[in-house]
Amino acid sequence: MSTPHGTGDLSGEATQGAAQRHLQATAHRHLWLHFTRMSSYAEGDMPVIVRGSGQYVYDNRGKRYLDGLSGLFVSQVGHGRTELAEAGARQAAELAYFPLWSYAHPRAIELAERLAALAPGQLNRVFFTTSGSEAVESAWKLAKQYFKAIGQPGRYKVLSREIAYHGTSMGALAITGLPGIKEPFEPMTPGGVRVPNTNFYRAPDFVASDQEAFGRWAADEIERAIEREGPESVAAVFLEPVQNSGGCFPPPPGYFQRVREICDRHGVLLVSDEVICAFGRLGYYFGSQRYGYQPDIITFAKGVTSGYSPLGGMMVSDALMEPFGSGHEDISGFESPRHVGHAPPGRSGTATFLHGVTFAGHPVSCAVALANLDVFEKEDLLGNVRGHEAAFRATLEKLSDLPIVGDVRGDGYFYGIELVKDKATRQTFSDEESERLLRGFLSPALYDAGLICRADDRGDPVIQLSPPLTCTQEHFDEMEQILRSVLTEAWSQL
Ligand SMILES: Cc1ncc(COP(=O)(O)O)c(C=O)c1O
Repeated sequence: MSTPHGTGDLSGEATQGAAQRHLQATAHRHLWLHFTRMSSYAEGDMPVIVRGSGQYVYDNRGKRYLDGLSGLFVSQVGHGRTELAEAGARQAAELAYFPLWSYAHPRAIELAERLAALAPGQLNRVFFTTSGSEAVESAWKLAKQYFKAIGQPGRYKVLSREIAYHGTSMGALAITGLPGIKEPFEPMTPGGVRVPNTNFYRAPDFVASDQEAFGRWAADEIERAIEREGPESVAAVFLEPVQNSGGCFPPPPGYFQRVREICDRHGVLLVSDEVICAFGRLGYYFGSQRYGYQPDIITFAKGVTSGYSPLGGMMVSDALMEPFGSGHEDISGFESPRHVGHAPPGRSGTATFLHGVTFAGHPVSCAVALANLDVFEKEDLLGNVRGHEAAFRATLEKLSDLPIVGDVRGDGYFYGIELVKDKATRQTFSDEESERLLRGFLSPALYDAGLICRADDRGDPVIQLSPPLTCTQEHFDEMEQILRSVLTEAWSQL
């Protein structure tokens, strides 16, 4: 068969091969991948993903992969949704850009209203950013300025959990609890304090057999840290609903309720970092709704647009807004003269939050986020997660019969599988074994087998799964089958 140019298949393949080699050579010469040991590609090709459709993505050779990580905990509605792309294109044609510095634009207003309606309690104010790190950075800066504004200028410290990841900009990095990714950038911004995480599989002996006792202990460690540091110096506690880094640690029962009480007792803000856990990942719009606690601030990013355009932000309670004035009036009475010119009592502060970024709340991203939320509603994606999460768990738990699988944990569509050397003693791998197992074998083998997931050893070695919210049993089975064969092979290589 000939192409329209009269060349045969063979020369078509040759042209394709040459194009792939050129792309690789150009990537090797010019592109710098994030958190990637670039030398590991010195001899080999970088994976190049060129398109996506539904739960799958395709590389530049046409090979298909099940996207078991939603890219990077991002693609909630899956790939190839033209309605999101078109919403972005329409917005770019109408108003591609205008800043949120002194001006508003309709999509940011509409999205802020919609998010306020979805968020728990009085989180009625949205400060947009472009990313999760910026959202975390903004929340810490707001906490600091808020306390200065209300006459408690000594409060600047931030508590967060061991191994937790909260982003990479210098403020967010000081909140991140992973020593390995901080050390090259020390000295850190002052004020980051670590507390234990909620890894029940590795709980201390005295609480290892009782989840509730473990949760009480882990929460009380937050109170002990506040007292040790001096409550008058502590601004906020940053916690994810389910801690990602370390391999998906859900909260023990009662944990967040106790943390809320502790924060209230000491006047400390509770920030729920939901950069991963919001927008359906746990079957709710916000992870804090799943576990029934009320944060003072929620940080979000990733799934708000399902990655069709970058966006992040923080949602802030009315109370935190007071020093900054709010114009917070009951807009149902907007026409009524009694509202004109009268801010409600206690809401008349005049401070300016001295913070902003050029592309925050970008009109295209806000339009895409609105279209994304439309898909959530039309297709009842929260219902899909809630309806299938037990089956997802049960399918992954089948892997527990493998000698290398120590623990399967998570909630919703967010799971970690901890790998161990000895199941009975829970012995983990040495650094050298972990390097060989994860980087040397598992990561490339899972990719070659057609599954995108994360093999991570920033804590103990884990495989993480966080698939699009549209996944059903057939996708769970595909993940289980690929993991079973690759983990079996990994064990035989040890
Ligand atoms: C909980 C949490 N916070 C913050 C961040 C940083 O987000 P970004 O990479 O968009 O800056 C991440 C990223 O994975 C995250 O998981």
